Amino acid sequence: MTEPQKTTTRRDFIKTTGSVAAVSALAGIALPPVHAQGSDQINVALIGCGGRGGGAANNALTAGKGGVKLKAMADVFDSKLRNSFEALKRSDVAAHVEVTNDTKYIGFDAYKQAMDNLKPGDIAIFTTPLAFRWVHFTYAIEKKLNVFMEKPLTADGPTSRRMLKLADEASAKNLKVGVGLMSRHSRALQELHKRIQDGEIGDVLLLRGYRMHGPVGSMASLPKPAGISELMYQIQRFHSFIWASGGCYSDFYIHHVDHLCWMKNAWPVKAQALGGRHYRKSPEGIEYVDQNFDTYAVEYTFADGAKMYMEGRCIVGAKPIYNSWAHGSKGLAIVSKANDCGLPSSTYRGQLPESEKRIWLSEVKREEQDPYLNEWNDLLDAIRNNKPYNEVPSGVHASVATSLGRMAAHTGQEITFDEMLNHEHEYAPGVDKLTMDSPAPLIADAKGRYPIPMPGIVTGREYGEASA
Ligand SMILES: NC(=O)c1ccc[n+]([C@@H]2O[C@H](COP(=O)([O-])OP(=O)(O)OC[C@H]3O[C@@H](n4cnc5c(N)ncnc54)[C@H](O)[C@@H]3O)[C@@H](O)[C@H]2O)c1
Repeated sequence: MTEPQKTTTRRDFIKTTGSVAAVSALAGIALPPVHAQGSDQINVALIGCGGRGGGAANNALTAGKGGVKLKAMADVFDSKLRNSFEALKRSDVAAHVEVTNDTKYIGFDAYKQAMDNLKPGDIAIFTTPLAFRWVHFTYAIEKKLNVFMEKPLTADGPTSRRMLKLADEASAKNLKVGVGLMSRHSRALQELHKRIQDGEIGDVLLLRGYRMHGPVGSMASLPKPAGISELMYQIQRFHSFIWASGGCYSDFYIHHVDHLCWMKNAWPVKAQALGGRHYRKSPEGIEYVDQNFDTYAVEYTFADGAKMYMEGRCIVGAKPIYNSWAHGSKGLAIVSKANDCGLPSSTYRGQLPESEKRIWLSEVKREEQDPYLNEWNDLLDAIRNNKPYNEVPSGVHASVATSLGRMAAHTGQEITFDEMLNHEHEYAPGVDKLTMDSPAPLIADAKGRYPIPMPGIVTGREYGEASA
């Protein structure tokens, strides 16, 4: 593959992602709190009013127990904003939704207008597709806002490096930033992590993650219909396009990649992978035009030689499997029993999950069983009590680790973590300057088909011109 510029290494990366406490200690100053401690009201603005945006706003207002108010909403589709607003107004948190017709904003600049309703120390919620994370984060930092942003954070090298720089800037301003990798806030996974670090299953040698079910979200797309621009079609069906979401591999599989690496306390150094598209036509016989494979099998390697396998499939009728596992020299852990981080987690002597060999089964208080709510309680606690809190560095790590597996499958090459991080291909340059009339970052051919990955043929980048 084309040699990417070697500018940042995993080691530098770990250095750059030092804790906020370390950053302020180095600077020799105590950072002022970004929000007055105590019970002051915190206002939030929602940017990206889709399924997760509505969920995150609901979580914020629920966790806020009356002390958090939703003040503004922004989207690029009027209908999405309207539906999300109406759903919030029908929900248990309706009393805390203080969005008026004057604080609903539509368009590519809507994020700025929504954030302009906030004061330093308030919270901006980013739940658009990932392509816009760095754009929105840049403005939030300028406005001294705390942030909750959904996963994944990046799909390519240039934006990963950009997000790391922004993370440093956010820490230097003592902003608190949560990332929607909610496994990290599962109380069961937190205890399992401690148990694994304490040696309960011995040295971690193998990790396995599976997410296999039928096609979900917008992972498979038909050619663009009339009545919508190319740009808006690609944004609307973001799981289909690598620039917008990292494709289904990044969007769907990042939770397992992230929490398994957390259990190992390391990020992989390289990956090689298989993948392909078995079914390129819809049941009606129309050709799909998205950039995804429907099957991925990625083998990651850690610096100590340990392996992690991430297997993903979106095929109807094939066996559904959706869970994750960690194998150590002494025993086994069920990390996620079901779904992204479903309860309960457990550990066993030996390599079989037999009840008589069980060492531990997680028990989590009812009020802490929802990791989506936990992540908001943790963020609000950090804001109110001025605790160091910046999940962006580990969120970028997780995004790069995921992208590297995806790129290994898409190119048919072995890809190292450093190559992915330092790669020069930016999938959507100028995304900060988009308007409703802009051309889309990905150009379709005359039949409405987009460039698809071609392992072994296009190898220096994920899609585009064939390698020399
Ligand atoms: N942590 C989780 O478990 C979890 C679950 C679902 C989704 N997510 C993440 O949340 C994000 C959104 O996913 P979703 O399922 O809610 O998708 P969605 O399509 O339902 O919502 C995304 C919204 O963002 C809007 N949008 C797109 N570009 C915008 C821009 N530039 N400015 C303002 N609004 C814009 C879209 O119009 C849409 O309303 C994705 O990154 C996804 O991975 C996380």
